[in-house]
Amino acid sequence: MNTPVIKKALVTGGAGFIGGHLIEALLSGGTEVVVLDNFRTGNPRNLDGLPVRLVRGCITDRAAVRDAVKGCDTVFHLAALVSVPESMERVHDCVSLNVTGLLTVLEEASAAGARKLVLSSSAAIYGDDPEVPKHEDMRPAPKSPYAITKLDGEYYCALFAATGRIETACLRYFNVFGPRQNPRSAYAAAVPIFIRRALAGEPVVIHGDGGQTRDFVFVKDVAAANLFAARTGGLTGVFNVGYGKSLSIRELAERIIAQTGSRGGIVNEAPRAGDVRHSLASARKLFSAGFTPAHDLEGGLAETLAWYRSEAGSA
Ligand SMILES: NC(=O)c1ccc[n+]([C@@H]2O[C@H](COP(=O)([O-])OP(=O)(O)OC[C@H]3O[C@@H](n4cnc5c(N)ncnc54)[C@H](O)[C@@H]3O)[C@@H](O)[C@H]2O)c1
Repeated sequence: MNTPVIKKALVTGGAGFIGGHLIEALLSGGTEVVVLDNFRTGNPRNLDGLPVRLVRGCITDRAAVRDAVKGCDTVFHLAALVSVPESMERVHDCVSLNVTGLLTVLEEASAAGARKLVLSSSAAIYGDDPEVPKHEDMRPAPKSPYAITKLDGEYYCALFAATGRIETACLRYFNVFGPRQNPRSAYAAAVPIFIRRALAGEPVVIHGDGGQTRDFVFVKDVAAANLFAARTGGLTGVFNVGYGKSLSIRELAERIIAQTGSRGGIVNEAPRAGDVRHSLASARKLFSAGFTPAHDLEGGLAETLAWYRSEAGSA
């Protein structure tokens, strides 16, 4: 496999949680970066001090996409309606952003002569199939418009690759965590919520018995997986991005409480409808292709806690 250099990249959704980390990794490798974002859920602070060209616009706005992708050899497509509950309420918005938006980006990227597009997909595609670990050739069982549209997106990426318009790779992220994840969003994930409550000395709330397990993956490894997928010529198809290790929600809460020295303890509340019991990636496909994460859960959690602690201190 050849390893092309990424000279200029478009990051859609670059003002988001994962986007900010991806941009830092690209810039440190000498890549010129363009961001297309309409700040639907993104935060301008995630771009603070980063020397990027920002195009404020929507991924369904063809003129904005065309402007943003000009001269780019690589596209990282992260912009999306990102919340499962919101997708249940706003199905048409979800289809418009996650399918029409992606299609517009695929079309404009291939018309502009870009070499590769890497799509941020999701483990939500596996639904609540009890089989673990989840491997890429399992039959998808999407249970929400969010998951259905991510799966649709994967098929469009495969179509564009098969017809020689642009090389594509789709990364199914498991539970991403790390600095700058928003704990205040109505749809925030467990790690930032637990950390915020523990740092405030408040009880950490667990829905259900806490025996549900997740494959938590540090955001810097997700950024690195994107770079790996883009740089590895010929790498195409669908790849899980996780560590292939699971942690229960109770263990996660206990670790965070221990590391913060919180006295707030744990409170159990009613289980949330539709919560999947176990989610664990088979990470073998991406690892066999040559990707090795530089971090692990322990190191990632320590770095994340340090960041939230410094944020709490400066608030
Ligand atoms: N965080 C996770 O655990 C996780 C897991 C699986 C998949 N993903 C996927 O990774 C990607 C990034 O997620 P994130 O956690 O960084 O979310 P995020 O909400 O922080 O980032 C999404 C970014 O896309 C932008 N955006 C949304 N709609 C847009 C539009 N119409 N036009 C232009 N920009 C738009 C938002 O403003 C935001 O900056 C998403 O595609 C998401 O579905 C995330």
